[in-house]
Amino acid sequence: MAQEPTDEFGDWSPEEFRRSGRAAVDWVADYFARIPELPVVPSVAPGDVAALLPDSPPEEGEPFENLLRDLDKVVVPGLTHWNHPGFLAYFGVTASGPGILGELVASAFNTNGMLWKTSPATTEVELRMMSWLLQMFHLPRSWFGLIVDTASVSTFLALAAAREAVADFDLHEEGLGAPGAPRLRVYASEQAHSSVDKAVMALGLGRKGIRHIATDTEFRMQPAELEAAIEEDRRNGWHPMAVVGSVGTTSTTSVDPIPELVRVCSRHGLWLHVDAAYAGSAALLPEKRAYFAGCEDADSYVFNPHKWLFVPIDLSVLYTKHPDVLRRAFQLVPDYLRSDDDGTNLMDYGIQLGRRFRAIKLWWVIRTFGVSGISQRIREHCRLAEEFRNWAQGHPDFEVVAPLTFSTVCLRGVWNQSPEASSAWDEELARRVTAEGRAFVATTKLRGRTAIRVAVGNIQTDSIRMSEVRSAFERIRTEIAAEIAEGTDPTEGASGK
Ligand SMILES: Cc1ncc(COP(=O)(O)O)c(C=O)c1O
Repeated sequence: MAQEPTDEFGDWSPEEFRRSGRAAVDWVADYFARIPELPVVPSVAPGDVAALLPDSPPEEGEPFENLLRDLDKVVVPGLTHWNHPGFLAYFGVTASGPGILGELVASAFNTNGMLWKTSPATTEVELRMMSWLLQMFHLPRSWFGLIVDTASVSTFLALAAAREAVADFDLHEEGLGAPGAPRLRVYASEQAHSSVDKAVMALGLGRKGIRHIATDTEFRMQPAELEAAIEEDRRNGWHPMAVVGSVGTTSTTSVDPIPELVRVCSRHGLWLHVDAAYAGSAALLPEKRAYFAGCEDADSYVFNPHKWLFVPIDLSVLYTKHPDVLRRAFQLVPDYLRSDDDGTNLMDYGIQLGRRFRAIKLWWVIRTFGVSGISQRIREHCRLAEEFRNWAQGHPDFEVVAPLTFSTVCLRGVWNQSPEASSAWDEELARRVTAEGRAFVATTKLRGRTAIRVAVGNIQTDSIRMSEVRSAFERIRTEIAAEIAEGTDPTEGASGK
């Protein structure tokens, strides 16, 4: 029987919302109870999930119960469970309880905070949260910040502001194609996230508009190489525009020498953007704060509460000490969006006009766990990673291939084979550990060789799970080594999973 709205054309009544809402919350609570026993990564092939969905939309409405039933039938079997305690791939993004309920309420309000007056609370809670985060992370209280969907977009906005700040040419008015427009260049280490390259491309600087700087043995940008590149580019007619430094690169979580980048940028008049997308949350911990030295002198700074602050995706935060420049890059007010109050209009600071009330989930996570509760969770993740690193370091069958800075360990099996063969066995090791279902680990390449990344950051991950993961690594490495010794190729038949 079809679901009846309250009247012929309206939405659910409050009673129906309550009834269906309770069923949905119960479903979510049951799902959370089940997650630890589900395989982290599903056993589906491309197209399997789509095949379970009808080709066409239903002509008549359906009871809500059907929708919940299909979550179990259609969706869950095809999910990669990012909330799983064994999710150790990429960087985790865990949805915590208060964050999920914050999403619910934000959707209920469904405000559009494009202008202050289009929903004053939406803007003011967001700005107050930006101020709370500055205090929590010991960043300058004078910075201006706003919520953006992802770090990729935050970095794009930051570099648009940097482009706007180019002193001797009005790029905002003239565009990059104008006669006399400078050939702009951005500098980032060879370990910087690809979102920096994408931002440079999207800003019209071309792939040649980014120059990658070599890193040292610990994967940190080399400031002398940076300075030499800037000077060489100037001699060759380039206009150096910005440097992107990373606190917590994606592959190894290495930390660029930010104080030295600050000095290079100020000597050469360049904008410094800091990408702390993952590691930014660790600035809460006094014992990790040294990694953030110099960040207070950056021109802009991004970090993602949706990565390691237990706020459901998406919620990235962009700060700048030059809000006027950011606004100049994006402010364009048509007649239908004029306002005469003195509230902050967040639409002036980026591409997007419409804005969700994302700040609620952040507010609720911070209030529910408190700064100390969040700190303890992050500290525990760092401890679990340290324990894992110590185990790998002390084990004859494994080697740790990058310094541990936060909560991500990069390791390899010891295979006594050529670099190419060793890379293949490490890929196979990560694949088999993941195929068992209790953990999901990903790989990267470091100096051309595969490394396995174990990134702790999920609010559900605990020492029991981590000890299971260690046993799995040990057992599977021994299994592969035995196959190599027998002369069989361990990767044969790997394609099934
Ligand atoms: C260092 C770093 N910067 C930027 C990003 C991009 O983040 P987002 O997915 O929020 O765009 C990532 C993603 O993992 C990252 O590790």
